[in-house]
Amino acid sequence: MRICLAFVVAAGVAGCSTGGVAAPAVEEAAPTGPADGARLFQRRCAVCHGPTGEGQEMAFGARSANLTDASLQARVTEAALLQVMRNGIGRMPAVTGLREDEAKAIAAYVRSIRKP
Ligand code: HEC
Repeated sequence: MRICLAFVVAAGVAGCSTGGVAAPAVEEAAPTGPADGARLFQRRCAVCHGPTGEGQEMAFGARSANLTDASLQARVTEAALLQVMRNGIGRMPAVTGLREDEAKAIAAYVRSIRKP
């Protein structure tokens, strides 16, 4: 097992030669901060929160939150932000398929759009 783990670490690939599913080709570097978060935000959040994150009226009658709002930012902790993405909240559905590092990059971006 130790050898297998060493192989995995060295090769950077999941699966230990037992017919496991090969890891998908890595197309982009792992997201690390607000710049990657901005890109992911446009892809995963802007459809509801708008391109600037200020929120908008939704077709289903709700209003998506204004993520630039200082009082919202003060109220929503880092853990809460990650949880909202993972599980959804109120009328916001869970944002599926986000890796932990992607969610953290989005969280960093959300922090960067806070307005005073
Ligand atoms: C399908 C539409 C939709 C998508 C996609 C979406 N949201 Fe939301 N979001 C909402 C709505 C609607 C609310 C208001 C929920 C309520 O209060 O009922 C909300 C609320 C929030 C809140 C406020 C939570 C609170 O405690 O008040 C945060 C933070 C948030 N969204 C972050 C995000 C982030 C980050 C993403 C992308 C990863 C995202 N949302 C994607 C619709 C969406």
